[in-house]
Amino acid sequence: PRTPVTVTVTGAAGQIGYALLFRIASGQLLGPDVPVRLRLLEITPALSAAEGTAMELDDSAFPLLAGIDITDSADVAFDGTNVALLVGARPRTKGMERGDLLEANGGIFKPQGKAINDHAADDVRVLVVGNPANTNALIAQAAAPDVPAERFTAMTRLDHNRALSQLAAKTGVSVAEIRRLTIWGNHSATQYPDVFHAEVAGKNAAEAIGDESWLADEFIPTVAKRGAAIIEARGASSAASAANAAIDHVHTWVNGTPAGDWTSMAIPSDGSYGVPEGLISSFPVTCADGSYTIVPDLEINEFSRTRIDASVRELTEERDAVRALGLI
Ligand code: NAI
Repeated sequence: PRTPVTVTVTGAAGQIGYALLFRIASGQLLGPDVPVRLRLLEITPALSAAEGTAMELDDSAFPLLAGIDITDSADVAFDGTNVALLVGARPRTKGMERGDLLEANGGIFKPQGKAINDHAADDVRVLVVGNPANTNALIAQAAAPDVPAERFTAMTRLDHNRALSQLAAKTGVSVAEIRRLTIWGNHSATQYPDVFHAEVAGKNAAEAIGDESWLADEFIPTVAKRGAAIIEARGASSAASAANAAIDHVHTWVNGTPAGDWTSMAIPSDGSYGVPEGLISSFPVTCADGSYTIVPDLEINEFSRTRIDASVRELTEERDAVRALGLI
């Protein structure tokens, strides 16, 4: 049998953790023939809740689950880890300024980045889910100089999936018939879901929609504000769909994108499309052989340019703020 892959999940006792761990253990993260060893990292007061989740994982008798370790030590949690899912973060509470939020998260993601640097496996891949995800990923990456920078990514796949679903509903096709959609920029309200290169049942999406005002007035704000709409309706933030997107992100990264399609991942910029090098920003990417490549040479129209630039500007400000705080 294959050696198990070690998957570390931080914030394991939280609501995304609860939706995520069972899917990892069932083989949906890496594939139906890959055994996994889970490492759950939590803060000390939440260790008992993590134990409870681990009991339920045991009770699910997953054939691929090779073991579960629970710890409040990042050094232990990331020891030999191959896939690190950084979900636990400090949420913005009432009256909290952006600087306070970034600083509080720096206190989480800087030591976790260092622990990954010092203890993770050579092939470690990191996905940051905890918000502000792009900038938290930047902080972790800066603390891990021995790990190739491109292994640090942040999640915009939920935004990508939300955009697929909205576009499918508008055009009356199945999501399976939509390809080449892109989320650009930050996982925040400034993100830009771009349909200008997308195809709906083989036709150009912008033409299939035929209504630029729908794009600007309905589609973009609906996708960008979907998280708030879920909170309003459910009384709690997106958890199962966020966990699903994390599964999709890693599965695609490891197993590849289908021919003729691409996905969206926030990754360190190589300077493509005018995004300053090093910023962790969402791009259209293809994945093959366990690595990703930014889709080159797309034509960016004026409508898209303005919106990409606005989101990238926000990322630049976040980077400058964490730099001023000495976090990177
Ligand atoms: P939650 O509050 O239910 O769970 C977070 C867990 O993280 C808690 O159990 C907490 O004890 C733990 N935690 C806090 N600090 C930690 C640390 N230093 N080490 C390990 N664990 C720690 O939150 P939920 O709903 O699970 O969301 C988690 C994060 O994911 C939030 O930051 C949320 O904003 C973000 N999110 C990101 C999305 C994206 O698309 N990128 C989508 C949805 C949520």
